[in-house]
Amino acid sequence: MRIGILTGGGDCPGLNPVIRAVVRRAMIAGHQVIGVKNGWKGMVENDTMSLTLESVSGILLKGGTILGTSRTNPYKKEGDVEKVKENFKKMGLDALVAVGGEDTLGVASKLVKDGLSNIVGVPKTIDNDLSATDYTFGFDTAINIAMECIDRLRTTAESHHRIMVAEVMGRHAGWIALEAGIAGGADMILIPEIPIDIEEVCDILKNKRERGKLFSIVVVAEGAQFKETGMILQEKKLDAFGHVRLGGIGEELGQLIEKNTGYETRVSVLGHIQRGGSPTAFDRVLGTRLGVKAVELVLNKRFGKMVALQGVKIVDVPLEEAVKALKTVDMELYDIAKVFFG
Ligand code: F6P
Repeated sequence: MRIGILTGGGDCPGLNPVIRAVVRRAMIAGHQVIGVKNGWKGMVENDTMSLTLESVSGILLKGGTILGTSRTNPYKKEGDVEKVKENFKKMGLDALVAVGGEDTLGVASKLVKDGLSNIVGVPKTIDNDLSATDYTFGFDTAINIAMECIDRLRTTAESHHRIMVAEVMGRHAGWIALEAGIAGGADMILIPEIPIDIEEVCDILKNKRERGKLFSIVVVAEGAQFKETGMILQEKKLDAFGHVRLGGIGEELGQLIEKNTGYETRVSVLGHIQRGGSPTAFDRVLGTRLGVKAVELVLNKRFGKMVALQGVKIVDVPLEEAVKALKTVDMELYDIAKVFFG
């Protein structure tokens, strides 16, 4: 068999462990793997690279993806889906492993319905917002980086008796804010799932100060919105999947906190730092397990599926199930975080 692999959408730590695992597992079974460069763009443009045991040696610990990535959507431009199908044949592929989030896997799911059936999906995203899998790799690394940043913000906040606002990624789900915030001992965690009530936020911060605690850490998810004014959009340009680029809520929030409380406030936007660098052990192991299982699905001709972590087991689910709804935060976990607010 000749198996293709692509990585699409925003990169994240753990992609290289998947690529390595796919190559190793396929080669053990006597099959060949080729890398499709830059996500669906490589399928549209017939852009590939060879993958050998040598080329995947030593990549386990590297962040990003050796294949490159893009946010190309072949359903956006007339004729691109046909090019994907033609190039699948030209590349001599028997199967394709698509590693991505809701957009990349959404394309995979549509292609399966449109007749390119030999596709298996592997879920990735730092946002952890994919249904049908308990965790996506990349998330654990992102929350550990965010937690370390929050720890660092805490010592300077404490010295200056300031409010520190940390804006984290996560798109329209608050997973990164919630888990990094709990781990970092945040005084307030603001997530897209619950509109921000600025008066309530300021009251909590004031109460804390009146108790003699002279600094606070507020973690806000980039997708959070004010109850009154809604979402802050940094720029209204949309990507090929119709997503706006989020960001800016931290600054807006910081200004309102300072104005309403009189406490000196600073804002840090953690940004792409959360997505870079070496994967944690959890993400290396999860990526490795998913990569091996993806090849096993291919070998058993179980196409149109996505590998997923459910509990402690790797299972497979229909691709469409994985992309049908955004997985937003578990409110029971948010209630636990609230115990520590203020
Ligand atoms: O989906 C992953 C993610 O990092 C989001 O958390 C964030 O909103 C977005 O990608 C940023 O995208 P880009 O890398 O295109 O700026």
